[in-house]
Amino acid sequence: MPKKIIVVKIGGSTLGKHDTTLVDLVELQKQGNSLVVVHGGAQVASDWLARLSIPTSFVDGLRVTDAESLKVVTAVLSGLVNKELVVAIQALGGRAVGLSGCDGNLLWTIMKNPELGYVGEIVTVDPAPLKLLLKESYMPMVAPISFGSVEGRVMLLNVNGDAAAGEIAAALTADKLIFLTDVDGVRDASGRVISRLNITEARALLRSEVATGGMVPKIEASIKALATVSTVHIIDGRMSHALPSVIAGESERSQLGGTSIVPG
Ligand SMILES: Nc1ncnc2c1ncn2[C@@H]1O[C@H](COP(=O)(O)OP(=O)(O)OP(=O)(O)O)[C@@H](O)[C@H]1O
Ligand SMILES: [Mg+2]
Repeated sequence: MPKKIIVVKIGGSTLGKHDTTLVDLVELQKQGNSLVVVHGGAQVASDWLARLSIPTSFVDGLRVTDAESLKVVTAVLSGLVNKELVVAIQALGGRAVGLSGCDGNLLWTIMKNPELGYVGEIVTVDPAPLKLLLKESYMPMVAPISFGSVEGRVMLLNVNGDAAAGEIAAALTADKLIFLTDVDGVRDASGRVISRLNITEARALLRSEVATGGMVPKIEASIKALATVSTVHIIDGRMSHALPSVIAGESERSQLGGTSIVPG
């Protein structure tokens, strides 16, 4: 089997503890695939913010990352969540190295919207550290923390995990970009899962606001990544062996379908 570069975003709700994701990642690595994992974990960060009694404000339903929150989010995502994932992969016999978007110049961002605080929008990706790790057969596990310049000062910036996965997949010209999430795929206005979407249809879904909330950055990231990646899949990470099934192309014959987003 030819060696494939596969970028996998694992969502906070499917961080691998209750499903087969981590076992599948190790198995796919053993089969010779080059895997890059980008993880979420916003819920774990929220839990810690609450434990530390750091108040959270929202603008239009979106969390504002202030200076105090940024410290906790960085510590939790690139510390606790990232290291627990790395250790879990190693415990299963896999080879993993954890890093964040700050490490090795991976994700350079600018502050997206000052109203939302220290949240970065990706400007450049330097995939060199990922390539180095893949060359040595490690699975890089990327925490969604980046760095960028704010009013002339270079600092940490939070970044959306879906956007990070999309930009990383594009920079690596990955064979596949797969989002593992907590729904069975992208749903249409009647609630049915759409098995295949092209870019035009995906844009229409965003415009019509049928896709909202956490689905929006996934679709936006997919559209951008499709400039170099041939297929993107958004699948239910809670289903057993969703990942190897979609990689083997079995999804159309099984219940694991999810949504494939294609260029044309
Ligand atoms: N059209 C749609 N089809 C499917 N899901 C949708 C749609 N519109 C909005 N959603 C929401 O998007 C959610 C998935 O995004 P969410 O950000 O919650 O998860 P995640 O990205 O996998 O995890 P995390 O953000 O913690 O990394 C679904 O649970 C669903 O509520
Ligand atoms: Mg999300």
